[in-house]
Amino acid sequence: MARIAVVGSINMDLVTRTRRRPRAGETVLGTAFDTVPGGKGANQAIAARRAGAEVDFVGAVGTDVFGPALRKVLEDNEVGTAGLRTVEGASGTATIVVDESGENTIIVVGGANAELSGLTAADRDVVAAADILLCQLEIPLPTVIEAARCARDHDTLVLLNPSPARSLPPSLWQSVDIAVVNEGEAAQLDSELRAVPHVLVTRGGDGATYRGPDGELTHPGVRVEVVDTTGAGDTFTGALAAHWHDGPAAALAWACTAGALATTIVGATASIPSFAAVQRALAE
Ligand code: RIB
Repeated sequence: MARIAVVGSINMDLVTRTRRRPRAGETVLGTAFDTVPGGKGANQAIAARRAGAEVDFVGAVGTDVFGPALRKVLEDNEVGTAGLRTVEGASGTATIVVDESGENTIIVVGGANAELSGLTAADRDVVAAADILLCQLEIPLPTVIEAARCARDHDTLVLLNPSPARSLPPSLWQSVDIAVVNEGEAAQLDSELRAVPHVLVTRGGDGATYRGPDGELTHPGVRVEVVDTTGAGDTFTGALAAHWHDGPAAALAWACTAGALATTIVGATASIPSFAAVQRALAE
């Protein structure tokens, strides 16, 4: 069983569903509203756990009404929370609008995630003991850099999902073993990604491509009824990390299937499929 450390974000997603997303200055009527725990870090942690890995989460929630619910979703999913701090103020939030085609727009306000400044000795032990460190870019960059450096010092593989995309120092790219990007990020980060040994590009409904030392592999899209694409990329990334030890082809197949199933239900953490559901879909 893989052991994964996630150093990342956790948000309360405020999800509004509407037939079509409004243009600038326009008001439209929505069809439903939900609060669903999310955040790229938490989504990937829960996805890795449901894909069969042992997972520890290092992150921060606020003292607001969302903090306890966010902590609980990690606990309910048996993700280790010894590294989860509670900091004074608001938790991270994501205001998400999903249209009837399942596409979304998201505004993230960092809140407590922005206060995750640096790792404690216990956090460093968690990273050192893991097979893979999983990071995204919704927490302060110096913390991502510190976690990646710690991972390198202890032979823990570094999997970076550089999302939301931003420019990163070359020293961080040099620490990355595996990168997961969508097509937009792949185009934006083209030259940086050339230095990364293993790169996975997700293509929405068209599947994903792996490029590594032994060449390229493509997994086709898995046909599903799409309701909400929020968290599908995170589900892909967490599942990939959990199955990385099975080799790129098997990991890619599991990740593509899990990511596709995640689009069939509304909400980020709510839509991450179970181990059994992915196994069944793969057998079909
Ligand atoms: O990747 C999806 C996630 O992005 C959402 O859960 C939201 O919280 C934002 O972080």
